[in-house]
Amino acid sequence: MSLSPAFLDELRMRTSLSTLIGRTIKVTKAGREYKACCPFHNEKTPSFTINDEKGFYHCFGCGAHGDAIRWMTDQRGLPFMEAVKELAQAAGMDVPAPDPRAAKRAEQAKGLHDAMAAAQGFFEEQLGGIDGGEARAYLQKRGISDATRRAFGFGFSPDGRGRLKSALKDFGEPMLVEAGLLIDPEALEQGNARKRERYDRFRGRLMLPIRDIRGRVIAFGGRILGAGEPKYLNSPDTPLFDKGRTLYNIDRASPASRQTERVIVVEGYMDVIALAQAGFGDAVAPLGTALTEHQIERLWKMVEVPILCFDGDSAGQKAAIRAATRALPLLRPGHSLCFATLPPGKDPDDLLRESGPQAMEAVLKAAEPLIERLWSHELSAMPLDTPEQKAALKQRLRAITDAIAHPDVRAHYAHEFRERYDARFFARRDNTPAQRQARGGGDGGRWQRDKRGNWKAPIPAAGFEVRAIGANGLEQRLLRAVLASLLRHPEQILPHREMLSALQIADSLLAQLLDVMISTSFRKETVETQALLTILGQGELYNMAKGMLRADAFKLTPDRTTTDPDRVARDLEEAVRVMTQGPELERNLAVATERVKADVSEENLLAQNHALVAHRNHLLRLAELGQSEDII
Ligand code: UTP
Ligand code: MN
Repeated sequence: MSLSPAFLDELRMRTSLSTLIGRTIKVTKAGREYKACCPFHNEKTPSFTINDEKGFYHCFGCGAHGDAIRWMTDQRGLPFMEAVKELAQAAGMDVPAPDPRAAKRAEQAKGLHDAMAAAQGFFEEQLGGIDGGEARAYLQKRGISDATRRAFGFGFSPDGRGRLKSALKDFGEPMLVEAGLLIDPEALEQGNARKRERYDRFRGRLMLPIRDIRGRVIAFGGRILGAGEPKYLNSPDTPLFDKGRTLYNIDRASPASRQTERVIVVEGYMDVIALAQAGFGDAVAPLGTALTEHQIERLWKMVEVPILCFDGDSAGQKAAIRAATRALPLLRPGHSLCFATLPPGKDPDDLLRESGPQAMEAVLKAAEPLIERLWSHELSAMPLDTPEQKAALKQRLRAITDAIAHPDVRAHYAHEFRERYDARFFARRDNTPAQRQARGGGDGGRWQRDKRGNWKAPIPAAGFEVRAIGANGLEQRLLRAVLASLLRHPEQILPHREMLSALQIADSLLAQLLDVMISTSFRKETVETQALLTILGQGELYNMAKGMLRADAFKLTPDRTTTDPDRVARDLEEAVRVMTQGPELERNLAVATERVKADVSEENLLAQNHALVAHRNHLLRLAELGQSEDII
């Protein structure tokens, strides 16, 4: 059933969102809006806002966003129509009668489901019949048991152009074409004058039904029995089947995953089946394509961290990185991917056959977290011999971090990459790999599993803590001046976002303020001061920002009335750069000092010392510019 936009608008207008949400969680009024602790993620200070006027809720912590209907579906877990009915009843509205076109579509879908079920019956029957001998032998050769054959609904499409067409003729050819079971040559070659017959799509193939979450057959994959092309022929996309939104075996893996609290993603149909037969019932596969965003979201409905299983050869590893990259913008607290690597040239089916389930279990156990996979990929992607190559690695790591939309997840990636990078390139002399190993840390720190199989963060290599900015008064002052300047000139956030994201800020309010600015710049093309203030709401952050905006406070540029955009941009650039490099310079100085302590004469100590002194002077000068009579 589909409802008119006008009806839905009326429904939203008549619903008081704050009252609706207030029935489930505690909301408090804050100015013209309402605030609450977000019910979609774990938090102690409220970042969930409700705007009755606009009829929307929004969480600045996790990005949850929606209207009254969305609240009912996402928070209360109701199906769309149920949500509408309940809201309509509360608002005293009648849900309009079903739209006849939608009813027709529903009717047609029912017809398609029946046709697919009939086709499934036909193929299964053929596999058991006289024509199915070769296919049965093939299954036997591949070691597929009768129980597996039944559980996965194997079938056989006989060789011939009209076998299914005549067996299912009651459905009518147009419906069989729509279901993807028949090929219509006229639809393929338009303008062809001669009338040509429709014919069976699947001929002489071992048939594997693809089922939706409810177990209904929505498509088929057909494997050739001998050699030939294509190895697998799949149903085209139909009203029932959208390749990018479907996962093979989702109907059986979903309940299995609730038991095992695990989901394995493999590449092929036969891998899923071989795994199930070996006792790994919680495996799914995409349908011959790279994992899509939809499929990742679908997997996250089963478990927070699905295991993606890829061939150890270079094609498999490329596919792993492609999946990893695709997941970055989607990452959110708790939700990630991990990566199991198979021996090169082997798929799970091969591995199980050759080495048994223990070997598969070992591969799964050794799965690496997403961050680990990305780190080791970038580390091995290019040579890292020259300073330029090392700096290029940093750039690649930044690009990864920038692709992460969620601010908290992004901040942790940035932090962890920086720690690993620094440990690798700016580490102390006694910090050779062998010594790190001896201390229990790995190569730049690797994630490890504890006895219960939980992931543990790497033990940081000994050396230097990443010092947060703002630890001393000068920097604090400069930082405030920079943030004030960004508040006044929010168009400057975007060009400096990369450097700003890398700042480690000690003061939590200042850190939050910067975080809001950065995440707003991800959501909006142009950010304005007023919009930033609105987003900050009414609390402590807002007051601080207001204070910073006072005419006489925290000017970075000495001429306090200047609005020359080039000047502002230049001063900001300078200040941000100095702040970013500060901790690095100090670390370098510490390295040099350590070396001197170890009585090693180092020529570049002097140079490093100079650099640090220069940096301090710089900071002093800038901070003086940013100084104001009434620093909070
Ligand atoms: P593979 O070529 O790795 O096949 O394709 P496989 O799964 O190991 O199959 P077997 O063991 O030889 O029977 C992996 C997946 O890619 C899709 C299928 O989903 C297959 O399971 N594929 C492959 C196609 O859709 N069409 C093809 O022609 C080949
Ligand atoms: Mn295979």
